[in-house]
Amino acid sequence: MKGIILAGGTGSRLYPITQAVCKQLMPIYDKPMIYYPLSTLILSGIREIAIITTPHDKTAFKNLLKDGSQLGCSFEYIEQKEPEGIAQAFVLTKDFIGLDSVCLILGDNIFYGGSIHELTKKCHQLDGGIIFSYKVKDPQRYGVVEVDNNGLAISIEEKPTKPKSKSAVAGLYFYDNEVVKIAKNVQKSTRGEYEITDINSYYLNQKKLKVIEMEKNTTWLDTGTIDSLFFAYNFIKNIEQRNSQKIGCIEEAAFEMGYIDETELTKLAKPLMKSGYGQYLLDLI
Ligand code: G1P
Repeated sequence: MKGIILAGGTGSRLYPITQAVCKQLMPIYDKPMIYYPLSTLILSGIREIAIITTPHDKTAFKNLLKDGSQLGCSFEYIEQKEPEGIAQAFVLTKDFIGLDSVCLILGDNIFYGGSIHELTKKCHQLDGGIIFSYKVKDPQRYGVVEVDNNGLAISIEEKPTKPKSKSAVAGLYFYDNEVVKIAKNVQKSTRGEYEITDINSYYLNQKKLKVIEMEKNTTWLDTGTIDSLFFAYNFIKNIEQRNSQKIGCIEEAAFEMGYIDETELTKLAKPLMKSGYGQYLLDLI
Protein backbone atom coordinates (compact mmCIF):
# COMPACT_ATOMS: atom_id res chain seq x y z
CA MET A 1 0.00 0.00 0.00
CA LYS A 2 1.23 3.46 -0.95
CA GLY A 3 0.62 6.59 1.13
CA ILE A 4 -0.09 10.18 0.09
CA ILE A 5 0.01 13.29 2.25
CA LEU A 6 -1.81 16.23 0.73
CA ALA A 7 0.13 19.29 1.87
CA GLY A 8 -0.64 21.71 -0.96
CA GLY A 9 -3.30 24.38 -0.82
CA THR A 10 -3.14 28.05 -0.02
CA GLY A 11 -4.05 27.91 3.67
CA SER A 12 -6.20 30.98 3.01
CA ARG A 13 -8.36 30.33 6.07
CA LEU A 14 -5.26 31.18 8.13
CA TYR A 15 -4.22 34.38 6.28
CA PRO A 16 -2.10 36.41 6.96
CA ILE A 17 -0.24 33.69 8.93
CA THR A 18 0.11 31.44 5.88
CA GLN A 19 0.70 34.10 3.23
CA ALA A 20 4.45 33.42 3.25
CA VAL A 21 4.70 30.21 5.32
CA CYS A 22 3.11 26.93 4.28
CA LYS A 23 0.36 25.73 6.62
CA GLN A 24 1.64 22.16 6.98
CA LEU A 25 5.07 23.45 8.10
CA MET A 26 3.58 25.56 10.90
CA PRO A 27 4.21 24.34 14.42
CA ILE A 28 1.66 22.36 16.35
CA TYR A 29 3.39 22.82 19.70
CA ASP A 30 6.86 21.20 19.32
CA LYS A 31 6.88 19.90 15.75
CA PRO A 32 5.75 20.85 12.25
CA MET A 33 2.13 20.02 11.43
CA ILE A 34 3.07 17.46 8.76
CA TYR A 35 4.75 15.24 11.40
CA TYR A 36 1.30 14.25 12.72
CA PRO A 37 -0.20 12.81 9.51
CA LEU A 38 3.21 11.38 8.56
CA SER A 39 3.47 9.51 11.86
CA THR A 40 -0.05 8.17 11.29
CA LEU A 41 1.02 6.68 7.96
CA ILE A 42 4.22 5.23 9.43
CA LEU A 43 2.32 3.66 12.35
CA SER A 44 -0.19 2.25 9.85
CA GLY A 45 2.65 0.30 8.24
CA ILE A 46 2.97 2.51 5.16
CA ARG A 47 6.55 3.30 4.10
CA GLU A 48 6.32 4.50 0.50
CA ILE A 49 4.88 7.98 0.71
CA ALA A 50 4.27 10.80 -1.77
CA ILE A 51 4.02 14.31 -0.37
CA ILE A 52 2.00 16.71 -2.51
CA THR A 53 3.07 20.33 -2.12
CA THR A 54 2.89 23.61 -4.00
CA PRO A 55 5.90 24.14 -6.34
CA HIS A 56 7.04 26.96 -4.02
CA ASP A 57 7.07 24.85 -0.82
CA LYS A 58 8.59 21.67 -2.27
CA THR A 59 12.17 22.58 -1.32
CA ALA A 60 11.21 23.38 2.27
CA PHE A 61 9.50 19.99 2.68
CA LYS A 62 12.50 18.24 1.09
CA ASN A 63 14.86 20.03 3.47
CA LEU A 64 12.78 18.88 6.41
CA LEU A 65 11.95 15.28 5.47
CA LYS A 66 14.61 14.35 2.88
CA ASP A 67 14.18 11.11 0.93
CA GLY A 68 12.76 9.27 3.94
CA SER A 69 15.61 6.72 4.13
CA GLN A 70 16.68 8.15 7.52
CA LEU A 71 13.31 6.81 8.81
CA GLY A 72 13.48 3.54 6.87
CA CYS A 73 10.89 4.93 4.44
CA SER A 74 10.91 6.44 0.97
CA PHE A 75 9.43 9.86 0.25
CA GLU A 76 8.61 11.41 -3.12
CA TYR A 77 7.62 15.03 -3.64
CA ILE A 78 4.93 15.84 -6.17
CA GLU A 79 3.90 19.34 -7.17
CA GLN A 80 0.33 20.54 -7.24
CA LYS A 81 0.44 23.69 -9.39
CA GLU A 82 -3.09 24.82 -8.56
CA PRO A 83 -4.99 23.61 -5.50
CA GLU A 84 -8.09 22.20 -7.18
CA GLY A 85 -9.39 19.80 -4.57
CA ILE A 86 -8.51 16.63 -2.70
CA ALA A 87 -9.55 14.22 -5.48
CA GLN A 88 -6.82 15.71 -7.70
CA ALA A 89 -4.26 13.97 -5.47
CA PHE A 90 -4.87 10.61 -7.18
CA VAL A 91 -4.44 12.06 -10.67
CA LEU A 92 -1.14 13.72 -9.69
CA THR A 93 0.20 10.52 -8.10
CA LYS A 94 -1.01 8.03 -10.72
CA ASP A 95 2.55 6.89 -11.61
CA PHE A 96 3.57 6.73 -7.96
CA ILE A 97 0.52 4.58 -7.10
CA GLY A 98 1.12 2.22 -10.03
CA LEU A 99 -0.93 -0.93 -9.45
CA ASP A 100 -1.12 -0.62 -5.66
CA SER A 101 -3.87 0.39 -3.31
CA VAL A 102 -3.46 3.70 -1.55
CA CYS A 103 -4.05 5.64 1.65
CA LEU A 104 -4.52 9.40 1.51
CA ILE A 105 -4.21 11.57 4.59
CA LEU A 106 -4.77 15.32 4.69
CA GLY A 107 -1.73 17.26 5.85
CA ASP A 108 -3.72 19.17 8.47
CA ASN A 109 -5.42 16.21 10.14
CA ILE A 110 -4.27 14.82 13.50
CA PHE A 111 -5.30 11.40 14.80
CA TYR A 112 -4.48 10.37 18.33
CA GLY A 113 -5.34 7.64 20.79
CA GLY A 114 -7.64 4.64 20.98
CA SER A 115 -6.72 1.85 18.61
CA ILE A 116 -6.61 4.03 15.50
CA HIS A 117 -3.34 2.58 14.23
CA GLU A 118 -4.46 -0.99 14.90
CA LEU A 119 -7.51 -0.24 12.75
CA THR A 120 -5.58 1.40 9.93
CA LYS A 121 -3.08 -1.49 9.80
CA LYS A 122 -6.00 -3.73 8.89
CA CYS A 123 -7.02 -1.61 5.89
CA HIS A 124 -4.24 -2.79 3.58
CA GLN A 125 -6.26 -5.51 1.85
CA LEU A 126 -9.40 -3.94 0.47
CA ASP A 127 -11.95 -4.12 -2.30
CA GLY A 128 -13.43 -0.61 -2.59
CA GLY A 129 -12.91 2.20 -0.11
CA ILE A 130 -12.64 2.58 3.65
CA ILE A 131 -13.24 5.93 5.34
CA PHE A 132 -13.27 6.98 8.99
CA SER A 133 -16.06 8.89 10.66
CA TYR A 134 -16.23 10.84 13.89
CA LYS A 135 -19.27 12.30 15.66
CA VAL A 136 -18.93 16.08 15.79
CA LYS A 137 -21.02 19.04 16.93
CA ASP A 138 -20.66 20.94 13.64
CA PRO A 139 -21.04 18.35 10.83
CA GLN A 140 -21.90 21.02 8.23
CA ARG A 141 -18.16 21.93 8.15
CA TYR A 142 -17.27 18.48 6.77
CA GLY A 143 -18.20 15.60 4.50
CA VAL A 144 -21.12 13.92 6.29
CA VAL A 145 -21.90 10.21 6.05
CA GLU A 146 -24.84 8.00 6.99
CA VAL A 147 -24.07 4.35 7.70
CA ASP A 148 -26.17 1.14 7.74
CA ASN A 149 -25.95 -1.64 10.34
CA ASN A 150 -23.23 -3.42 8.37
CA GLY A 151 -20.91 -0.42 8.36
CA LEU A 152 -21.59 0.46 4.73
CA ALA A 153 -22.17 4.08 3.73
CA ILE A 154 -25.71 4.82 2.50
CA SER A 155 -25.39 8.56 1.93
CA ILE A 156 -22.52 11.02 1.79
CA GLU A 157 -22.63 14.77 1.26
CA GLU A 158 -19.99 17.51 1.23
CA LYS A 159 -20.64 20.32 3.72
CA PRO A 160 -24.45 19.92 3.72
CA THR A 161 -26.54 22.76 5.13
CA LYS A 162 -28.89 20.16 6.65
CA PRO A 163 -26.63 17.23 7.69
CA LYS A 164 -28.34 13.81 7.75
CA SER A 165 -26.12 12.65 10.62
CA LYS A 166 -23.48 13.93 13.06
CA SER A 167 -20.81 11.72 11.49
CA ALA A 168 -18.10 13.80 9.84
CA VAL A 169 -15.72 12.14 7.39
CA ALA A 170 -12.14 12.43 8.63
CA GLY A 171 -9.25 13.22 6.30
CA LEU A 172 -7.97 9.63 6.10
CA TYR A 173 -9.04 7.49 3.15
CA PHE A 174 -8.10 3.99 1.96
CA TYR A 175 -8.90 2.93 -1.60
CA ASP A 176 -8.19 0.09 -3.98
CA ASN A 177 -6.38 0.83 -7.23
CA GLU A 178 -9.61 1.76 -9.03
CA VAL A 179 -9.43 5.17 -7.35
CA VAL A 180 -7.02 6.39 -10.02
CA LYS A 181 -9.60 5.80 -12.78
CA ILE A 182 -12.46 7.18 -10.65
CA ALA A 183 -10.51 10.36 -9.82
CA LYS A 184 -9.83 11.02 -13.51
CA ASN A 185 -13.56 11.20 -14.18
CA VAL A 186 -14.53 13.47 -11.29
CA GLN A 187 -15.96 16.84 -12.41
CA LYS A 188 -15.41 20.12 -10.55
CA SER A 189 -18.06 20.97 -7.97
CA THR A 190 -19.92 24.26 -7.69
CA ARG A 191 -17.19 25.50 -5.31
CA GLY A 192 -14.67 24.78 -8.10
CA GLU A 193 -13.00 21.72 -6.55
CA TYR A 194 -12.49 18.05 -7.42
CA GLU A 195 -14.25 16.70 -4.34
CA ILE A 196 -13.14 13.62 -2.42
CA THR A 197 -16.83 13.19 -1.63
CA ASP A 198 -17.47 12.45 -5.34
CA ILE A 199 -14.95 9.59 -5.21
CA ASN A 200 -16.63 8.30 -2.06
CA SER A 201 -20.07 8.60 -3.73
CA TYR A 202 -18.83 6.42 -6.59
CA TYR A 203 -17.77 3.66 -4.18
CA LEU A 204 -21.00 4.13 -2.21
CA ASN A 205 -23.07 3.51 -5.35
CA GLN A 206 -21.11 0.28 -5.89
CA LYS A 207 -21.89 -0.65 -2.24
CA LYS A 208 -18.15 -0.67 -1.65
CA LEU A 209 -17.67 2.19 0.81
CA LYS A 210 -16.97 0.88 4.29
CA VAL A 211 -17.11 3.31 7.21
CA ILE A 212 -15.15 2.80 10.42
CA GLU A 213 -16.54 4.91 13.23
CA MET A 214 -13.64 6.07 15.34
CA GLU A 215 -13.83 5.13 19.01
CA LYS A 216 -14.73 7.68 21.66
CA ASN A 217 -11.18 7.53 23.07
CA THR A 218 -9.69 8.52 19.72
CA THR A 219 -9.17 12.22 19.06
CA TRP A 220 -9.41 13.64 15.57
CA LEU A 221 -8.42 17.24 15.02
CA ASP A 222 -8.23 19.27 11.87
CA THR A 223 -6.19 22.42 11.99
CA GLY A 224 -7.40 24.47 9.05
CA THR A 225 -8.74 27.51 10.92
CA ILE A 226 -7.15 29.81 13.52
CA ASP A 227 -9.23 28.42 16.37
CA SER A 228 -8.76 24.77 15.41
CA LEU A 229 -5.01 25.35 14.95
CA PHE A 230 -4.64 26.77 18.45
CA PHE A 231 -6.95 24.18 19.92
CA ALA A 232 -4.68 21.48 18.44
CA TYR A 233 -1.55 23.30 19.67
CA ASN A 234 -2.87 23.42 23.24
CA PHE A 235 -4.21 19.87 23.10
CA ILE A 236 -0.81 18.46 22.11
CA LYS A 237 0.99 20.69 24.63
CA ASN A 238 -1.26 19.62 27.51
CA ILE A 239 -0.93 15.92 26.77
CA GLU A 240 2.82 15.99 26.12
CA GLN A 241 3.56 18.02 29.25
CA ARG A 242 1.35 15.83 31.40
CA ASN A 243 2.46 12.36 30.40
CA SER A 244 5.91 13.04 28.94
CA GLN A 245 5.09 11.20 25.73
CA LYS A 246 5.13 12.79 22.34
CA ILE A 247 2.32 12.65 19.80
CA GLY A 248 3.22 12.65 16.11
CA CYS A 249 6.92 11.91 16.65
CA ILE A 250 8.01 10.45 13.29
CA GLU A 251 11.36 9.15 14.58
CA GLU A 252 9.65 7.32 17.45
CA ALA A 253 7.07 5.89 15.03
CA ALA A 254 9.81 4.55 12.72
CA PHE A 255 11.69 3.08 15.71
CA GLU A 256 8.53 1.50 17.12
CA MET A 257 7.76 -0.07 13.73
CA GLY A 258 11.30 -1.48 13.54
CA TYR A 259 12.16 0.58 10.45
CA ILE A 260 15.22 2.02 12.18
CA ASP A 261 17.46 0.66 14.92
CA GLU A 262 19.05 2.26 18.01
CA THR A 263 22.13 3.49 16.11
CA GLU A 264 19.98 5.20 13.49
CA LEU A 265 17.73 6.75 16.13
CA THR A 266 20.78 8.08 18.00
CA LYS A 267 22.02 9.68 14.77
CA LEU A 268 18.66 11.40 14.28
CA ALA A 269 18.68 12.65 17.88
CA LYS A 270 22.10 14.36 17.70
CA PRO A 271 21.16 17.61 15.88
CA LEU A 272 18.00 17.94 17.98
CA MET A 273 19.55 18.07 21.45
CA LYS A 274 19.15 21.80 22.16
CA SER A 275 15.35 21.74 21.95
CA GLY A 276 14.97 18.68 24.16
CA TYR A 277 13.48 16.71 21.24
CA GLY A 278 16.76 14.82 20.77
CA GLN A 279 16.90 13.81 24.44
CA TYR A 280 13.35 12.47 24.15
CA LEU A 281 14.51 10.26 21.26
CA LEU A 282 17.54 9.03 23.22
CA ASP A 283 15.33 8.21 26.21
CA LEU A 284 13.33 5.83 24.00
CA ILE A 285 16.35 3.53 23.81
C1 G1P B 1 -12.15 18.21 3.47
C2 G1P B 1 -13.16 17.27 2.81
C3 G1P B 1 -14.25 16.88 3.80
C4 G1P B 1 -13.61 16.28 5.07
C5 G1P B 1 -12.57 17.25 5.66
C6 G1P B 1 -11.77 16.59 6.79
O1 G1P B 1 -12.74 19.43 3.75
O2 G1P B 1 -13.69 17.91 1.66
O3 G1P B 1 -15.11 15.93 3.22
O4 G1P B 1 -14.63 16.02 6.02
O5 G1P B 1 -11.61 17.63 4.66
O6 G1P B 1 -10.84 17.47 7.36
P1 G1P B 1 -11.89 20.83 3.66
O7 G1P B 1 -10.81 20.73 4.67
O8 G1P B 1 -11.38 20.88 2.26
O9 G1P B 1 -12.89 21.89 3.96
